[in-house]
Amino acid sequence: MNNNYSEKFEKMRLAGKLAAKTLDMITDYVKPGITTNKIDQLCFEYIKDNGGYSAPLHYRGYTKSLCTSLNHVICHGIPSDRELGDGDFLNIDVTAIVEDYHGDTSRMFVVGDIPVKAKNLIDVTHESLMKAIKILKPGIKLGDIGYEIQSFVEEKGYSVVRDFCGHGISNVFHEHPNVLHYGKKNTGMELKPGMTFTIEPMINSGKHDVKILNDGWTAVTKDKSFSAQFEHTIGISENGYEIFTESVKGYRKPPYN
Ligand code: MF3
Ligand code: CO
Ligand code: CO
Repeated sequence: MNNNYSEKFEKMRLAGKLAAKTLDMITDYVKPGITTNKIDQLCFEYIKDNGGYSAPLHYRGYTKSLCTSLNHVICHGIPSDRELGDGDFLNIDVTAIVEDYHGDTSRMFVVGDIPVKAKNLIDVTHESLMKAIKILKPGIKLGDIGYEIQSFVEEKGYSVVRDFCGHGISNVFHEHPNVLHYGKKNTGMELKPGMTFTIEPMINSGKHDVKILNDGWTAVTKDKSFSAQFEHTIGISENGYEIFTESVKGYRKPPYN
């Protein structure tokens, strides 16, 4: 295809693929005993060795190269010396920059046996993202995306986090528009071919309220309920969409084997 956004999409594909391959690569390492710092280090090196750079590193004072959000952490969990153990589940969120363009994607990972309640939350969260992606095409509105996610997860008894949203992304990490994961049909900005943005619903098993820890980053559920998230970077094409951050290994949601 040749149009005014084909070069932008070409670069988004490269960045998106590297981010997805980084999550593919780290999957086998997500085992009891590994620290989230080790996950951070392995992913940083993989991205660098493959011609990219980790966007979160030094972004607004952030000191690590990705986010690891465990159990009741909603997002922006900071890698540390915490070892993963049986029963933990976590989101790993990678953003790779390749030739100035960004690929931003996250998946859930589980360690050993996790509560059934957490498994169901992870499944519903993944399904909410995929349901929202499937409706994408020029002419629909941002509110349609939020509606799709909110109506689906609330019907299952879960809640949508309000304090964080998806975002426009290209040669800028976070740009307009905000992509809310809740909303009303036929409201908000209309989607146009060439637009690139993330959808990254954060879904809680309890209430949607957020608390930020003293580190200034870590967002947890106020009621200590579980939280899950998946994220893709997407482009709107002439009559549909393209997912830039699809797994090369076919990994979609746990279990990955
Ligand atoms: N990757 C996150 C997102 O989906 C942003 C992380 S910014 C950081 O937008 F500084 F916290 F790493
Ligand atoms: Co994002
Ligand atoms: Co992200």
